[in-house]
This record gives sequence, structure tokens and C-alpha cells, in this order.
Amino acid sequence: MPKKPHVMILGTGHAVPDRVLTNAALEQMVDTSDQWIMERTGICERRIVAPGTPLSELASLAATRALAAAGVSAKEIDLIILGTVTGDMKFPATACIIQDLIGAKQAVAFDLSAACSGFLYGLQIAEGLMLTSGYRKALVIGGEILSSMVNWQDRDTCVLFGDGTGAIVLGAAEGERGIIHTCLGSDGAHVKLLYNPGCGSLNPPTPDNVAAQLHTIHMAGREVFRHAVTAMSNAMQQVLDEADIAPDELQLLIPHQANLRIIEGVAKRLHIPAERVYINVDRFGNTSSASIPIALDEASRAGLIHPGDLVGMVTFGAGLTWASAVIRF
Ligand code: ACO
Repeated sequence: MPKKPHVMILGTGHAVPDRVLTNAALEQMVDTSDQWIMERTGICERRIVAPGTPLSELASLAATRALAAAGVSAKEIDLIILGTVTGDMKFPATACIIQDLIGAKQAVAFDLSAACSGFLYGLQIAEGLMLTSGYRKALVIGGEILSSMVNWQDRDTCVLFGDGTGAIVLGAAEGERGIIHTCLGSDGAHVKLLYNPGCGSLNPPTPDNVAAQLHTIHMAGREVFRHAVTAMSNAMQQVLDEADIAPDELQLLIPHQANLRIIEGVAKRLHIPAERVYINVDRFGNTSSASIPIALDEASRAGLIHPGDLVGMVTFGAGLTWASAVIRF
């Protein structure tokens, strides 16, 4: 029997930039083609902020929309966790800036670094803190301005990523609804498959390091792809097994939106039909920690999931990190 939930999602929200960067526009920037990008990734377009737009601006909008959907005021929030690798600045935490922007004066706020897994890591940590530390209402946000970290001359990476933010409000569970189970994993043996080597103490952003593009995303795409399919399938199977739920009981699977072929590979391994797998990678590209909360909000607002439905979520990213969750929405 699935465990009785203690914490549930009260509301969801997302915010993406208005500016659209199409594959046709990328054809003018690097040696690529709409056909290559579509066939290899499923991405048609992505959203990109106007230069200089900070993450806090977009993430505050997503948070405000989630609060409105939940019918919760910012003053009631006592915990804010932001999963991101592209915060406004190295410190303080962008979660603190968001706290101030939305007026969540009672909240404890911090950022969490788990790359594309940041949102689901935040979900488990928030649930744990709510159970052990008395926090009653929490905001979990996934948000990235990846355009600030992309090397726009590198066709291997620049076609993949987009900007966006998504947020949820958590509160006490009602009946059977809520977070049923979550699983997290990490493997630091593969750090260099996907990393940003030049913004920290190892390679500070000196003129030489910046000229060498160390402050941008470096990725071994094919290797990451292989790990992603295996880790995401295993993580989703693990969370379902441990919760005693069969894949066909899921109303919707919301996988991290990195690449359509990764999503299809994961769904195939789990024997989940395409019509029960949410996809928006075609419109937003890979928004890292934002991809699951954006998709969750879209699916909810489109009426694809209703209160009481079982929803699976699974992700994979740099670290390596991976995470999965099953909730009764
Ligand atoms: N346009 C045209 N050609 C390209 C482009 C491009 N944008 N990028 C690479 N190529 C070329 C390569 O140079 C290579 O040419 P060659 O055969 O002459 O050497 C050829 O296309 C094939 O390159 P591969 O890297 O083998 O292509 P692959 O089929 O693996 O697709 C991709 C590449 C899309 C990056 C894929 O490996 C992938 O999606 N990996 C996962 C990466 C990812 O999503 N990372 C994000 C973070 S982790 C996560 O979110 C899951």
C-alpha cells in the first residue's frame, strides 16, 4: 500500500520569457540546421530572456502565480527552496532575493545546487523539513537563466538550452493527496561529463579563463545521453517499486525535458504509452531545474491532471544527479 502523504502540492505556477529563439535563428548563429536539431533533440524553439534579466525576476513571477493558484499569501510561507545553477549572483542566495521581492517575510530561504535535479531535490528536502522542523507552507522553485551560461559559438550545446522558472506551494496533505515517495541519487565519478568549470574557486573568472570559455557549459553529449536514459528509467522504477505503484497506474509521467529521444527511451523502458508522457521540450528546450515544475503547471492548467491523480516525475542532470517522485496530485 502506498504510504499516507503528509505534504501536498497546493498550487503551481510558471513563468518563461516572452522572447522566442527559433532553430531558424540559431542557423544564423552557428553551423547547424533546423532538421538536425529537430531530429536529434525534438526542440523547435526555446525562450531566452533579454540580456541582464536576473533569475529572481522571472522566478518571483512563477512563485506569485503558484501562490495565487494555492490561495496562499506570501506572508504565510515559512520556507523557500530554489533549485538553480544560474542564480542572480554567487551570493547571497537568489532565494533570499525572491523572498524580498514577493514579501515572504517569515520565510527561511536558500538555494540548492543539483543542476537539472534541483527541483525534485528541493521537493524531498522541503517535505523532510516540513515534517521535522514545523514549517507549514513552503515554496519550492526550479529556475534557470541558462542563456547566461551558454557558449553561443558552441553548436554542441547552444541549441539545447532555454530559460524558464516553475514553482509549487506545499502545505499539509488532505486525505490521500500529497507526496507519496521520492528517491534521490548522485554519482560524483562523472563530474566532467557536464560542468561549468569556470565560475568557482577552481577556475575563478580571470580574463584568461573567461577567454577560454571556462565560464560556459561543457558537455560530453553522447555520454550524458546514455547515462540519462538509464538513470531516469531506474530512478522512476525505484520510486514506483518502493511505493508499490505500477507504471500503468500513473495518470501522467512528467520527465525532465532535455531531449525528446531521452524521454522516449525512458517511457519505452517503463512501458508507459506516449499519451501519458508530458512533453514540452519542443517549445522550451532544456530549462534544467525548471523543466519539471513548468511541465507540471502546464499539465495542471491544461486539465491533463486532476486532484487525486497519480503523477510520476523523474529527472537527471549534472553531478551526476538524478531524482524521482510519485505524488497524488
Ligand atoms: N548541429 C549540427 N550538427 C551538430 C550539432 C548541431 N547543433 N551538434 C553536434 N553536431 C554534430 C557533431 O559534431 C557530430 O558530427 P560528426 O559525426 O561529424 O563528428 C554529429 O553531429 C553527431 O554528434 P553526436 O554528439 O554524436 O550527436 P548525438 O546524436 O549524440 O546528439 C545531443 C547530440 C543532442 C547533444 C545528444 O547527445 C544529447 O541530447 N545528449 C544529452 C545532452 C543533454 O541533454 N544535456 C543536458 C543536461 S543533462 C540533462 O538534462 C539530461
